[in-house]
Amino acid sequence: MDRAKTRIAVLASGDGTNLEALAASCKRGELAASIELVLCNVPKAGVLTRARNLGLLTKCGDHREVSSRELFDEALISALRASRIEFVVLAGFMRLLSSSFVKSFHGRLVNIHPSLLPKYPGLNTHQRALEAGDRLTGSTVHFVTEDLDAGPAVLQVQVPIADGDTVDTLKERVKTQEHRLYPAAISRCLSGLSSIETPNSALLDDLEQ
Ligand code: GRF
Repeated sequence: MDRAKTRIAVLASGDGTNLEALAASCKRGELAASIELVLCNVPKAGVLTRARNLGLLTKCGDHREVSSRELFDEALISALRASRIEFVVLAGFMRLLSSSFVKSFHGRLVNIHPSLLPKYPGLNTHQRALEAGDRLTGSTVHFVTEDLDAGPAVLQVQVPIADGDTVDTLKERVKTQEHRLYPAAISRCLSGLSSIETPNSALLDDLEQ
């Protein structure tokens, strides 16, 4: 095992395009991490196919078959411990985490949210931005705390909204930028440039100039 690489897990419920971008960044050696585990709560999610095609270890359990959030999250924590995971990445994981899960990974748990937080926490962000007539949206990587989408921001990317955009066109444009944003944000966390105690939020494009 390469000791310079942080052992990360990705938790996802959907398509898995961000997982793929993270794996590509690890492979290029830009993100000093190795994806040791992919956890999923939706048995038919596309992320599982993508993960298996990438040769990644996957574990999937349907949360509807588990009687409580706490029990489900205990199973997640056990799987993360068994794989000696050091840093946890939520990438479209459509499930609220219990307080004990969040506490277990305090400062080592990040999420990507498709809006310029603090604007539009929660669901349907693209719809809400379009309905408000916004000209700018984006995505935010933030540390996860017990308050929904409200933990300290690490890095954001801005995405313009064009005339005629729909939820689908906007979603795709934002995702394309998320594929640059997420590896860069996790790198900042792993290198200690940003931590939950001293977040150092910035815009991705400013950093790259
Ligand atoms: C991303 O847009 C992310 O911001 C949100 O869920 C989406 C996941 O997309 N939390 P994918 O499954 O990685 O393609």
